[in-house]
Amino acid sequence: MEKPSRRNVLMAGGTLGALGALSVATPANASALWTWSPKGSVAGAGEGADPRWVWDEEADRLVASIIDRGDVAKVNTLLKQWTKNGQPLPAGLPADLRDFMERAKQLPSWADQGKLATAVNFNEKRGLYLGVTYGFASGMMSTAIPKEARAVYYSKGGADMKDRITKTAKLGYDIGTSNAYKADGEMIVTCVKTRLAHAGVRHLLPKSPYWTKVADEKIPISQADMMVTWHSLPTTVMQNLVKWKVPIPDDESVAFLHSWQVAAHMLGIKDEYIPNSWSEANSQAAQVLTPILAPTPEGIKLADILLNLGSFLDGGLLTKPILGSLTRYVLGDEIATWLKIPKDPLWDPLFETAWEPFIAVREGLLSLEKAPGALQKAYWAFDEILRLGALLVLSEGDLPISIQIPDTNNPH
Ligand code: HEM
Repeated sequence: MEKPSRRNVLMAGGTLGALGALSVATPANASALWTWSPKGSVAGAGEGADPRWVWDEEADRLVASIIDRGDVAKVNTLLKQWTKNGQPLPAGLPADLRDFMERAKQLPSWADQGKLATAVNFNEKRGLYLGVTYGFASGMMSTAIPKEARAVYYSKGGADMKDRITKTAKLGYDIGTSNAYKADGEMIVTCVKTRLAHAGVRHLLPKSPYWTKVADEKIPISQADMMVTWHSLPTTVMQNLVKWKVPIPDDESVAFLHSWQVAAHMLGIKDEYIPNSWSEANSQAAQVLTPILAPTPEGIKLADILLNLGSFLDGGLLTKPILGSLTRYVLGDEIATWLKIPKDPLWDPLFETAWEPFIAVREGLLSLEKAPGALQKAYWAFDEILRLGALLVLSEGDLPISIQIPDTNNPH
């Protein structure tokens, strides 16, 4: 296939747009066309290059060389000692890596400390809802993003999913801490390490016979893929909170977005692809995320692992159907069916009828006596679900987790 250039993508987009067919032109499993303008980005301008063909050039070259020259184990050992944003890089890192990391750990010039401080308020006030939405909107959605599901499944981390989920949850935990981007926080470290891990995956996964058999791309984790996953996080979370009518002051909503814009930059996403507002984010997500969602055998297995996360509490007896229904409620019937989540006659209707009133009662907008009868019975259970979500997703912050550069793929 001809490599799409900016010109022919725009031409194709223009032709389809003229036919009024842009939204129906993309079958569920195809990549969406990139017609989103860099004018709506935090950079405000840019080349507009199709991000499906852009990766993270400098990090990728550097990490490939670290892997090929056999330095990974040494680097990973040193990286374990680097945990706080303000801490100097460990002595002994290869000079080229140190030089890159010194630059990669700088916040962008547009980072706004005032907004980051407001985001802290929001995260504290809304921590309970954020736990559930990161876990069962974003986490579950990621299993229906084919490229991500395959990359996760066939990379090194795929061999130990519990460990991988814990490491990924660390980023969700770190971004919500009060000192996330401050010298004594850990979010910058987590982002830079993740950026290096992704660069390692780009070098290694193309050597996996399992991945190459199923992948429809030569190099994984393009800038477009990064934005797709990014939208499965803040954009999807905010869309759900809005749907549930959680009251959110404008400045907190903008601040939450800002903390994720900074995260995107620190993860190596180019500023010209990072949306500058929720309306830009929603329009980009409609273009790049919604149309590509689809089931894969790998995603179905990953979803099952996520649904079993609560099993340590009850062997999955109650938590699995509840988390399944929550997923069906949040992501809808189609995606739940793709992921082979069974329908549940008790919990499915309960979420449909009682979740929004539950939020209203929690927010003091509705009295429990005036809420639907179903909620009066389910209130305690929903409250427990919020706590369970927070426990599963956000409690991992206490563990000594070190995100590492992979040195191999999943051997299976
Ligand atoms: C690793 C977050 C996008 C695939 C990680 C890790 C984090 C993370 C925190 C470290 C966890 C670990 O080492 O196991 C994110 C965020 C993203 C993003 C916040 C976007 C905003 C993507 C995309 C893909 C992907 C688009 C694939 C298409 C992977 C893989 C690993 C990884 C395969 C390494 C697992 C291993 O150790 O082998 N990511 N990621 N990520 N990510 Fe991402």
